[in-house]
Amino acid sequence: MTVGALASVAMASPAATTMPVRVPAGGLLENVRLRTLALIAHLTSGDLERVLDPLMSPLVWDLAHVAAYEDLWLCHRHGGRALLHPDLAALYDAFETPRALRGTLRLLDTAGALRYLEDVRERSLHVLSEKGPGDGTLVELVLRHELQHTETMRQAMARAGMLPAGEPPPGPTRGASLAFRSASAGLR
Ligand SMILES: [Fe+2]
Repeated sequence: MTVGALASVAMASPAATTMPVRVPAGGLLENVRLRTLALIAHLTSGDLERVLDPLMSPLVWDLAHVAAYEDLWLCHRHGGRALLHPDLAALYDAFETPRALRGTLRLLDTAGALRYLEDVRERSLHVLSEKGPGDGTLVELVLRHELQHTETMRQAMARAGMLPAGEPPPGPTRGASLAFRSASAGLR
């Protein structure tokens, strides 16, 4: 099953695993957003706006790109609304603006990127309240996209030695690693 069934995503209940708990799409979006913001809470605006590693985007580009993507797929494609910032569409399109250029362009600053995220989210929640999530596919797309970008941002932060306290999480135990190697060997 996909998160697709989304607004009606069934998540295992810790109390009774056979009883699904229905989670509204807006709640899932907000949950992922809290994780995104927690990931960068220890950084300054300067940290977010500079190139931490030449292979990676400035983190503030990822934030505004997440906003642009959500606006495109949830507000525009699903909700039928005009883009909130059509003037920013190319700048925050990953194909139009490849990584190598992102650190050389005039991007939204941290306050601007965070405001873009908030403004789009407000529109998304209105769209979802008006239209519902449809079959949930586009909500799932947006959720997975933001999660994927938090991993990209982690990668940039790791390369710069700027991960938040407690990250990365402990690796697999020796036993788990051996079990994985055994399982992999069985695939050959
Ligand atoms: Fe992306």
